[in-house]
Amino acid sequence: MSKVLVTGGAGFIGSNFVHYWLKTHPEDEVVNFDKLTYAGNLENLSDLKDNPNYKFVKGDIANSDDVKKAMEGVDIVVNFAAESHVDRSIQDPAPFVITNVVGTQVLLDSAKNAKVKRFHHVSTDEVFGALKLESKEKFNEETKYSPNSPYAASKAASDHLVRAYFETYELPITITNCSNNFGPYQYPEKLISLAITNLLEGEKVPVYGDGLYVRDWLYVQDHCSAIDLVLQKGKVGETYCIGVDNDTPNIKVIRLILEALGFGEEKIEHVTDRPGHDRRYAIDATKIKKELGWKPSFQFEEAIDLTVKWYKENQNWWKSLRNKDYLDYYKRQYTERGEK
Ligand code: NAD
Ligand code: DAU
Repeated sequence: MSKVLVTGGAGFIGSNFVHYWLKTHPEDEVVNFDKLTYAGNLENLSDLKDNPNYKFVKGDIANSDDVKKAMEGVDIVVNFAAESHVDRSIQDPAPFVITNVVGTQVLLDSAKNAKVKRFHHVSTDEVFGALKLESKEKFNEETKYSPNSPYAASKAASDHLVRAYFETYELPITITNCSNNFGPYQYPEKLISLAITNLLEGEKVPVYGDGLYVRDWLYVQDHCSAIDLVLQKGKVGETYCIGVDNDTPNIKVIRLILEALGFGEEKIEHVTDRPGHDRRYAIDATKIKKELGWKPSFQFEEAIDLTVKWYKENQNWWKSLRNKDYLDYYKRQYTERGEK
């Protein structure tokens, strides 16, 4: 039996991971440590309130007192806590540096002092920068870091700190760099969750630039199973890239969602592009597949259908998130950024 500290467990991937972990490792104790920013939502975990192996602790990873208390008796840390949205990092980079960089360092220090058995850091393929649309190149564990957005730069810095704690203090770390996730409980600011919820509200889908930017979309459950495997079988000090060879242009993703909801092209609206927009991400996941035997379980179209169904059936969940703060953010992002 292990005590697992999940930071950012009230967010999108973190809450899917908490559910996944308690289902696949019911003997373990899970502590969800989360600051509950705009992206953190305890509703995501309301079904666990009577589970004696689940506990929620409100706290900030950048606050060493909060972290020290939560770290007591912990065997494994899985660090999801982060500011995660690229567009918000362009509007206001400071919280990204504080949470993603300082927060990760505070957590690392505390994990070192508590002598945890494993510190797993959840990172992103965005640290590698952008690939050319016409090239066949993919990111792998050897790709040099070249982050372009303040978000990506802050995640890159956090990855370096995690590696440094392994090299310098022998903290038993692992890192995963994953491609774009989608699925239940994703805050409606990312492309897929925003497209579905806008369409369900009768609104259009905003497409940045020409819509030909490419991402390797992966269903969140497959990310959870990959992290699980890295925790069970991964080699300490190593990085694993996670992706599913599903390199898809944004416009194609949007057309699939339109089709699933019975809408046509009239619901697409081209808007001002994202500054410094990374053209293409693609992952070569050979290492985690060959060395750890990881295999994704979900096929893209099927997972899009599952996700659309989830948002249709859980309208209360996302409608309550489209509050004043959300609408203010939406206005700043989509109507106040000038001409296309
Ligand atoms: P999210 O924005 O949905 O959730 C982040 C969670 O972290 C929220 O619950 C929030 O309250 C919490 N949090 C933020 N600042 C905190 C702080 N200072 N202290 C404690 N908790 C804090 O993010 P997500 O999409 O679930 O991403 C989770 C992690 O996975 C992030 O580290 C992100 O970089 C990484 N990642 C995300 C994707 C993706 O496609 N979403 C892909 C690869 C990697
Ligand atoms: O690659 C992993 C990363 O994926 C994670 O590290 C980040 O936390 C996560 O936010 C995500 O970053 P992206 O910037 O790729 O995801 P996002 O959903 O914001 O955008 C996906 C693509 O869709 C990107 O090319 C921008 C475009 N887009 C996005 C939004 C929100 C639009 O065209 N319109 C939109 O309204």
